[in-house]
Amino acid sequence: MTMTETMEKRAGTTGRIQKVGVAGCGLMGGGIVETAASFGFEVVVREVSDGLLDKGLSRIEKSLAKAVEKGKRTSQEKDATLANIHRTTQIKDFADCDLVVEAIIENLEEKRAFYAELDRVVKPTAIFASNTSSLSITEMAASTGRRDRFCGLHFFNPVPVMKLVEVVRTIDTSDETYTEVAAFARALGKTVVTAKDSPGFVVNLLLVPYLLDAVRALEKGVASREDIDAAMKLGCGHPMGPLELLDFVGLDTTYYIAEIMFQEFKDGRYAAPPLLKQMVKAGYYGRKSGRGFYEYNA
Ligand code: CAA
Repeated sequence: MTMTETMEKRAGTTGRIQKVGVAGCGLMGGGIVETAASFGFEVVVREVSDGLLDKGLSRIEKSLAKAVEKGKRTSQEKDATLANIHRTTQIKDFADCDLVVEAIIENLEEKRAFYAELDRVVKPTAIFASNTSSLSITEMAASTGRRDRFCGLHFFNPVPVMKLVEVVRTIDTSDETYTEVAAFARALGKTVVTAKDSPGFVVNLLLVPYLLDAVRALEKGVASREDIDAAMKLGCGHPMGPLELLDFVGLDTTYYIAEIMFQEFKDGRYAAPPLLKQMVKAGYYGRKSGRGFYEYNA
């Protein structure tokens, strides 16, 4: 389907969400910006500094250039996508967005402070959605005066490729909010699963113990890192083995999510194994730091 066809299809399927704000232009925020803009949404992206905006937008440009190189997009489609993106460092520039997707740092206090300010400056009819993977959506919603127009919208890395989005409902999320946000996710070509606001939702509830078990298997010397990964790739058809996936997601990110889930459930399945903790303390975060379970040069 060409981009023009996709945009026409989108115009017929979405509700009132037309202008989207994205807070944060890191790996996840940038992926959400790229995907929404490529499906014809007008996107305002906000970062805390121009330096972070430059970095995030250059990652998006590179990703689009790669798609053109591979013949997956035309250069006109790339230009149209980039033209849909408006950069800012000001929260007030989200004022007339219909939906604001937040993908800032995974820290509840920072998110709550962000939402309190957002709530003051954005039109009252707008919906807020957090891309958090493990923090409480209910607690974030409680820092606004629009708990009914608040939900989770959890994308997966790499956002342009992964087909799933979890739409997370709190006890206050209205049916209308849920329907509009799910329609928005579908308009990005994603399949929606619906989850309640429980730590880890569906994917991380199941994925995190699996990843931690792989580290425990390595720690116990059950098999080498290569064999653990090959076993799950070839034995179960996973695109990446668990240790490769840990390097891809980030050991620090996984450790952080596991800690939150352990605090909530007090269940040993979510307790980070010592090896993971040591690697995080040593700064071996995976691909992003150049070393995790594997080494990445340049
Ligand atoms: N942006 C756009 N397209 C991308 C991309 C990106 N960042 N990365 C890869 N792609 C595209 C490639 O262009 C390629 O497309 P074509 O087949 O059409 O040419 C396709 O994806 C496959 O890429 P590659 O050939 O480069 O490499 P691959 O076959 O090894 O696939 C992968 C890479 C898609 C990442 C695959 O290994 C995979 O699916 N891995 C598992 C990823 C995963 O599980 N993600 C979820 C992590 S959990 C999470 O995100 C949530 C959380 O809360 C922690």
